[in-house]
Amino acid sequence: MEKIEKTFVMFKPGCLQRRIVGEVLNRLERKGLKIIALKMLHMNRAMAEAHYAEHRGKDFYEKLLEYTVSGPVIAMVLEGDEAIALVRRLAGPADFHESLPGTIRGDFAARTRLNIIHASDSAASAEREMALFFKAGELCSWEDGNARWF
Ligand code: PPS
Repeated sequence: MEKIEKTFVMFKPGCLQRRIVGEVLNRLERKGLKIIALKMLHMNRAMAEAHYAEHRGKDFYEKLLEYTVSGPVIAMVLEGDEAIALVRRLAGPADFHESLPGTIRGDFAARTRLNIIHASDSAASAEREMALFFKAGELCSWEDGNARWF
């Protein structure tokens, strides 16, 4: 039984810096996830604080904000069967000691601080994060039709 979900994903500044946007996006699309919203923006401090509100007070919080606003990010909404857990599996753990080769973080992030991808960790986070970055009218749902091959 399919459980179609929407999840929020953000390619953090290192992704553009390292010119790997296409490569990382390809992994998500290749797995069958649908892009239903996509934009590039340079977040300000207030937006980064809102996005990472749950981490306020943690020892890495300031470094996390500093990195997040250090350059543009690519924000997107992806849709697919159990998309929230699926993207988290494809991304791998944030801690670079734990992220295995084959995962996005395992293959591309050499430091936890310079983690290149953020992905919602729950349905509630996905809703909150999508609403922070996108207006409802900016989500473009589309049907697979006969182009579906996976
Ligand atoms: S996760 O993916 O939410 O379970 O990861 P978590 O370990 O809870 O970390 C939350 C986010 O904080 C980032 N992080 C750090 N940033 C800078 N410096 C240090 N030391 C550090 N440790 C964790 C981590 O990359 C997560 O960022 P996002 O954007 O949510 O992936």
